[in-house]
Parts: sequence; C-alpha cells; structure tokens
Amino acid sequence: MDSILVRGGNKLNGVIPISGAKNATLPLMIASLLTSEELILENVPHLADVESLVRILTNHGVDYQVKGKRKNHNGQQGRNIHFKASEIVDTTAPYDLVSKMRASFWVIGPLLARMHKAKVSLPGGCAIGTRPVDMFIESLEAFGAKINIENGYAIASAEGGLVGAEFNFSKVSVGATHVALMAATLAKGKTVLSNCAREPEVVDLANCLIAMGAKIEGAGTSVITINGVEALHGARHRVLPDRIETGTYAMAVAMTGGDVFLQGAQASLLQNALDVLVKAGVGIEEKNDGIRVTRNGAGIKPVDITTEPFPGFPTDLQAQFMALMTIAEGDSKIKETIFENRFMHVQELARLGANITLDGQTATVHGPTRLTGATVMATDLRASVSLVMAGLAGEGETTVTRVYHLDRGFEHLEQKLSACGADIQRLSS
Ligand code: EPZ
Repeated sequence: MDSILVRGGNKLNGVIPISGAKNATLPLMIASLLTSEELILENVPHLADVESLVRILTNHGVDYQVKGKRKNHNGQQGRNIHFKASEIVDTTAPYDLVSKMRASFWVIGPLLARMHKAKVSLPGGCAIGTRPVDMFIESLEAFGAKINIENGYAIASAEGGLVGAEFNFSKVSVGATHVALMAATLAKGKTVLSNCAREPEVVDLANCLIAMGAKIEGAGTSVITINGVEALHGARHRVLPDRIETGTYAMAVAMTGGDVFLQGAQASLLQNALDVLVKAGVGIEEKNDGIRVTRNGAGIKPVDITTEPFPGFPTDLQAQFMALMTIAEGDSKIKETIFENRFMHVQELARLGANITLDGQTATVHGPTRLTGATVMATDLRASVSLVMAGLAGEGETTVTRVYHLDRGFEHLEQKLSACGADIQRLSS
C-alpha cells in the first residue's frame, strides 16, 4: 500500500488547476444508462472511484472510450470519455463491484427506468456511517417499483415501466435525489420531488439530463418537477469544477501561508466555506477563471461551523477545516450533522500535536498548537487529505499511510502540491 511523505514548513505559491468534480462525474456516468445513444463527458478526473464505476457500467454493457492525448495536453486537464449503452445486457450490479464504490448503487434508478428491472447489491456502510438506502427504496416504490431485499441485494421490478409520482424526502439526500431525478426522466407522467438536495452536483446532473432531452424544472431548489419522456438521446456535457477540491486547497494555503491561484474554481459552488475562510483571516479573491487564495503573515482566527446540506458548510470539507483550526489563535467548535461517525481524523490529527476534544457530534479544537510530524493513518477520503494538510504546516516529516483513500477523490494531489513548493512524495511499497 502506498504512503505519502510530507516534509512540512514550505509555503504554497503558484497555480493549482481544479479538476472536474468527482461527485458530479459519478452520477453523470450513471446517467449514460438512460439512453442508447452516446453520452460524452468532458473534464472527467483521473480517480479510482471513476475507474471503479467504469467496471460497473461495462458490466451492464456500456461501451466507453477515452479519447487520446491532444496537443498541449499536460496531463493535468480532465479526460473526455464517451459512454454508449446501446443495449443493457445485464441488469445486475454484483456485490464485488458495488462494495468497492458505494455510489454504484445508484445504477438502480436508470436500470429500473430503462429496463424495468434491476438487481443491485446493497452498498453497505462505510467508515463514516451506516449509509442506509431507505429513501432510495421508498422513492422508487412511489414510482410503482416492487423492491425486495434478499441476500444483500435490492431486487426491483416495474411491470410496464415507472409511473411519475409526488415524493417528499424525509431527509435531504444527495444520492437519493440523483436517483429519483434520473428515474423520473423516463417515468410516465409528472413527478414532483420535494425536500431535494440542492448541491451543485444535482444541478450539473439535471443540466446534463436536460441536454439529453429530459423535462426538468427546479434543480438546485428543494422542489424538482420532472415530466417523463419516451426516451433520452445522447449529449455532450462538461463536468463542473470540484468544489471540495477547491475548498481543500484553499485551506491548505491558509495553513502553510502563501499565494495560490485555484485555476477553474467557481466561488459560487462553495460560497459558505469561502465566507468562513475570510472570517478566519484568509485572503480570497474571486477572478473570472478561478480564485486567488493568500495568507501572508496574519494569524488564523478561530471560527465555529456546523456542517449542513448545500448551501451550508459542506460535510466533505469538515476534516480539512478541522486541520486548519488546529493552528487558529483560540478555540473553535465544529459540529457534524450529516454523518454519525465523521471524526476519525481527530485521533490522527492528535498524533500530529492537535488538541481536540469531542462531545457527541461537536469537536472543540483548542488552538493554536504546534504541529509536528508523525506517521498517521488515513481512515476515509476527506480525513486523509486533512492529515496531508497538517503535515504541510507541521515541522518535520509526516507519513500518511493507506493513501488509497486519497486516490479515490483527489487527482494528482502530490503533483499539484509539489508544483506550488510543497515537499511531498509518494512512497510505493
Ligand atoms: C454524497 O453522498 C457524497 N457522495 C458524499 O461525499 C457527501 O458527503 C454526501 O453526499 C453529503 O453531501 C457522492 O456524491 C458520491 P447523502 P450520499 O445521501 O449521497 C442519510 C465524499 O467524500 N441517508 O446526502 O451517500 C445518510 O446516511 C463523499 O466525496 C439516509 O438516511 O449522502 C446521511 O446521514 C462522502 N437514507 C445523510 O442522509 C437514505 O436513503 C446524507 O447522506 C440516504 C441517505
């Protein structure tokens, strides 16, 4: 298993290109199942989760083609990938594939919509929580699907196809919103979904589905209306920039000090997090093709946050923000309201010198602390990058093990950071 070795103390200066969003790419790829025509996605990041999902889709019969290198392509830009589900040859998504990347479960919506049946392994929980799928099941049953849970699989059928319905999500769920949205595009009649997730990735999926011929209104608000159509056609869609990668690197610069231009970043996708960074004393300058982040000399002020569904502070930036608050001049409170077990980075940050106390879903970070290098273990995707950030700001050497977690969601992390002066390298074992 690979590790990452970081020698702390260097400021970050230069340019970091922001990749296409992982959490938009995954549902967009799954949307290719909804049509027999070609869906071309641009700006697709090179990530382990994308490769895992390709294996699921090809198992269903989707052809995919990665376009070759183009002139002045420096390997930092995303790829254009062509997906074509001419026909779906297998409506089963097996455990050995779904268990590798839980969002694969989302294929259940398009398979039911197009093939009127699906047998999809339940994704199971993960490190940050039990991750139930009850709302996925309830919403698809509202569309007329019959779903049984047997031997760890959701076995679903919809004789004659899905029928549009009104459905209210009892909790805001990004995945359940994606799946109901995709299913409704081919359901007969009108669907009204309420208490939907408003994340930018939902809007990006809706924009792509509209380009494919879907009739959707209200994406980005909590009520989405869909009028079903007979079939969807192909389209070309560019994946929006990754707001979590953007926030992560902005917080890295805030920790080390320096001046970095996040190329391609869109401030409106993470305004709440940027406003928090400004309160903490970080320089944030919005440009038309990115965001300039600076921190020269001034200290970091403590800021309390509570994670919330969009447009609130994103749970996927909670671990990174906690790392930043370890060097803040005072105490800050971080409340996690989305997942029940998303504080595993606390004990690893403590090994680097952080002083954090936990009370249920609230962490109190006592700052400032002097961070010093150590060997630490990545536990989940976003926690792992918070350890790299602490290593960048700390004194001495930090080795982060189990970096396969990192590779799931951060494209070319070492290259992007070392290009800005970080002393960081991957140790392959
Ligand atoms: C998406 O996960 C993201 N993943 C997560 O990012 C992100 O943290 C999460 O949304 C919240 O923003 C992708 O987009 C691939 P949810 P998702 O359904 O859709 C509960 C990362 O690091 N819930 O919005 O699985 C659930 O347990 C990942 O990139 C139910 O109770 O999250 C959680 O407590 C981590 N029943 C809450 O809702 C359901 O049927 C929000 O989860 C579905 C969800």
